[in-house]
Amino acid sequence: MCGIVGYLGPREAYPIIIEGLKRLEYRGYDSAGIALFDGNDLKVSKTKGKVADLEARSEKEITKHGSVGIGHTRWATHGVPNDVNSHPHISNSGELVIIHNGIIENYESLKKELISRGYTFQSDTDTEVLVNLIEDVKKQEKVKLGKAVQIALNQVIGAYAIAVFDKNKPEEIVIARLGSPLAIGIGEDEFFIASDASPFLEYTKDAIYLEDEEMAIIRFHKGIKIRKIKDDSLVDPYIQKLQLNLEEIEKSGYDHFMLKEIHEQPKAITDTYRGRLLRHEAIIKMAGVEDNMKKFLNADRIIIVACGTSWHAGLVAEYIFEDLARVPVEVEYASEFRYRNPIITEKDVLIAISQSGETADTLAAIKLAKSKGAFVFGVCNVVGSSIARETDAGAYTHAGPEIGVASTKAFTTQITVLTLMALRLARAKGAISSSDFRNHLLELEMIPKKVEESLKSEAHIKMIADAYKDSHNCLYLGRGFNFPVALEGALKLKEISYIHAEGYPAAEMKHGPIALIDENMPVIVIATKKGHYEKVVSNIQEIKSRKGKIIGIVTQGDVQVKELADHVIEIPETLESLSPLLTTIPLQLLSYHIAVMLGKNVDQPRNLAKSVTVE
Ligand code: F6R
Repeated sequence: MCGIVGYLGPREAYPIIIEGLKRLEYRGYDSAGIALFDGNDLKVSKTKGKVADLEARSEKEITKHGSVGIGHTRWATHGVPNDVNSHPHISNSGELVIIHNGIIENYESLKKELISRGYTFQSDTDTEVLVNLIEDVKKQEKVKLGKAVQIALNQVIGAYAIAVFDKNKPEEIVIARLGSPLAIGIGEDEFFIASDASPFLEYTKDAIYLEDEEMAIIRFHKGIKIRKIKDDSLVDPYIQKLQLNLEEIEKSGYDHFMLKEIHEQPKAITDTYRGRLLRHEAIIKMAGVEDNMKKFLNADRIIIVACGTSWHAGLVAEYIFEDLARVPVEVEYASEFRYRNPIITEKDVLIAISQSGETADTLAAIKLAKSKGAFVFGVCNVVGSSIARETDAGAYTHAGPEIGVASTKAFTTQITVLTLMALRLARAKGAISSSDFRNHLLELEMIPKKVEESLKSEAHIKMIADAYKDSHNCLYLGRGFNFPVALEGALKLKEISYIHAEGYPAAEMKHGPIALIDENMPVIVIATKKGHYEKVVSNIQEIKSRKGKIIGIVTQGDVQVKELADHVIEIPETLESLSPLLTTIPLQLLSYHIAVMLGKNVDQPRNLAKSVTVE
């Protein structure tokens, strides 16, 4: 959470930082700020609100000149979003300026100590404590900024990605990371700093990703020195060539990133199985699975950990792994798993699912499982992310950058990877017949075409969205493989439209939720042909007799549900185990159009951020 951008070089830093912050706004958008050294002095402008508000404010407040600068877009942790709590924060002397992504957990005791030494504070933030701690160390120990940062960080408990500079030595920026991502873009005698590479893609494709517990001192004309924060040892920088293109992080004519990403799913799914699903050879190739096949085959069980939408993908995977590969699977919220003293052995395989690869709880769950000797496999979208690096092996989803805060293509590509894994394992175990395996490959290969077909219902879905946009509550029901899709549909609606929604296994309705049904309750029921169809039809009848409004997600050509439901949305027929890849599509579009009609900020819903790097 929070986006960090910095620049050091010959160009004007202001436009680079502002544009960079706009690209990082998915990480937080409560407030924004910038600090520039204009050749004489430090100029700071910051405000509650979005980067656009910062632009308007800095127009009046600062000269906007300077080739050294840092900027921040915030997702509030300590202190409400207001002008004072916005970053950057300046030390008491006015010399040091800092931006920070993360949480300093022991900030209160550090603050008390600093207050006793005469320091004063303007904001409620942990970040202002950190910049003054660095200043205090610098003065007490009479050391340079880099050393002061290092000593201060060794006193800190928590997570951080920081960038700090001294207005008396503006040719140098010091950065450090623990638990929050930080990349350095390396141009010709110029340096970019950012939470991810998107702010500097048009300037350079050469990047260094700092590892946890590393810091870098970046000097104009002199280059970069990377050190371990704990023991001061020097680290050889590893420069990566980025594969990302600018077009991938732009809206390309769509009104919102979310809509673009929904429509990208046919391509994202194809990219995800390309080179892995080899239908003509009737094989699945996945190096991460292949190389560790023994671990998978000897596993007593698979534990899946994830959060939010990725957790829903994990639930779908539970059905798929158990059905196809006949391995017991447990799916856990990473945040619960890490704190409940779980029983983990060396015979467990843990699969961690994460789009961003930075989710703090998932990362902590991985570390816990590793410490108990489990083999840990990652399913991530962001290449080189913390989770991708921390896991023993893994498979990327190849969805491309997902910028809309509500996850869409990440979900379907995660299910694609997990399905490939389950099929590969099923084959290795002899749990699936060769004809069934071939059939799965064929059907999976056809999914992108069928997603395209499902997307054609958009105009019809828009009409349904218009009819239900003023609802205050909504129920989503599904069974079997589609129960997690019901959960995901409800999550999509609540997070972007702020309409209360619940997902349930359809049969659970009569154990409580049915009491909610009346003529004002829209119920979205996933009732595809395969998978307990008749039972779901009975559930629909129960809703209908209580006057609930029914929106059925049905297989093309369905007759029975059509007769009962107020509306139906058709999807093409596929195997039951693959149906979540299709049933999800109309639910994404329904949420999107309701939120747009309600005038909500679809790509940046309130209180949320794309990457949750705090607990
Ligand atoms: C919902 C959503 C979140 C994320 C969750 C996990 O649309 O985006 O629920 O799925 O925060 O994030 P990752 O997958 O990055 O670990």
